Amino acid sequence: MSNFERIQVLKNQEAEPYANFVAEYGSPLLILDCNKVAEQFNALSDALPNIEFFYAIKALPHPAMIRTLLQFNVGFDIASKGEIDLLRLERAQARNTIHTHPIKRDDDIRDALSYGCTTFVVDNIWELEKFVAYRHRVALLIRVSFPNAKTNIDLSRKFGCQPSDVLLLLRKAKALGIHVKGLSFHAGSQCTDSSNHVHAIRQCAAIIEQAEAELGKLLPILDIGGGFPVSYTHSTQDINQFCYPINEALATLPAHINVIAEPGRFLSAPVMESVSRVIGKAERSDGTWYYLDDGVYNSYSGQIYDHATYPLTVFSDGECSSIATLAGPTCDSIDVIAEQVNLPPLRIGDLVIGKQMGAYTSASSTRFNSLETAEIVVINGPSVGLNTIFITHSS
Ligand SMILES: Cc1ncc(COP(=O)(O)O)c(C=O)c1O
Repeated sequence: MSNFERIQVLKNQEAEPYANFVAEYGSPLLILDCNKVAEQFNALSDALPNIEFFYAIKALPHPAMIRTLLQFNVGFDIASKGEIDLLRLERAQARNTIHTHPIKRDDDIRDALSYGCTTFVVDNIWELEKFVAYRHRVALLIRVSFPNAKTNIDLSRKFGCQPSDVLLLLRKAKALGIHVKGLSFHAGSQCTDSSNHVHAIRQCAAIIEQAEAELGKLLPILDIGGGFPVSYTHSTQDINQFCYPINEALATLPAHINVIAEPGRFLSAPVMESVSRVIGKAERSDGTWYYLDDGVYNSYSGQIYDHATYPLTVFSDGECSSIATLAGPTCDSIDVIAEQVNLPPLRIGDLVIGKQMGAYTSASSTRFNSLETAEIVVINGPSVGLNTIFITHSS
């Protein structure tokens, strides 16, 4: 990514709203804007009409996300007891949830069932057998693998059966008396284009047809997973353009098939900004090093786990005149946010804003060096009225 795409320099006076947050709550901070959650949901539902959405909580497991999406009757994709507990606290209806983790302990199945979730995902015979004891209470989706070499986050290596194994699993489920109601896939996260979604939809359509012809088995649900991308530059992503081929492929499905999706990143990435401060600086042989109070062990953890590079905003009335490195606050040398970028001179105390920092950021932050994780300040939250703020801790 070029310096221009990654670094935005705004005038000093534009730092004021962020400085006000820092004056009130300290730093580092994450600001979660519920209006943006609504905007993202509206954009995706416009781009993919007639699809029922189940927000993948793992991307940003925060009450404000759940509360805002509940206003739009969005369902939830859950994968752990902790995520179920979050939904319980927010009084989300279990009938609008799907448990999508392909590998579960018996306790995980029981927890989800006791909450009221009855849709589960499997991708192999051993997982199928775990449901024998619960066969009168559940309906399953079979996850199919569609590898995607074009993304860094290929979710079809660790999970998903081969397309050619689906009929075998359907036969086995029938023999065990377990109801399978559809297929699911994940085309890879942060997809560069929608070709793998289209490929997967076409393959699944063929499997659904074959299951009906050979086994007389109807599979009325197709779960097209997540993968809907956001822009990690200062310009925006055209989600309509991404979804257009998906809609074309979906239009060829038989009318009785209900299509659902599990978006995580698209609904959450643009809704949080990180606010950190320069806490130290040094001149080194490769330029100026600025040390921030947030880094890859904390809100920028997605630079490690999610392969993301977040666009940054700094504030200065000066010119971009020096090659600089932005580093996090821990003692580890891997804790670097941006290397060899062209920056204006920054002072200790200056603010650095990270954009598009809602998805897979605070969700995977740590307390390495016994440092606190960033506070999350929620603005425009539904439960507390417009333009009011409540503050929660992310850990
Ligand atoms: C099963 C499942 N569904 C949905 C998602 C969300 O994917 P994305 O953030 O690409 O929308 C993930 C991400 O890991 C996942 O594992």
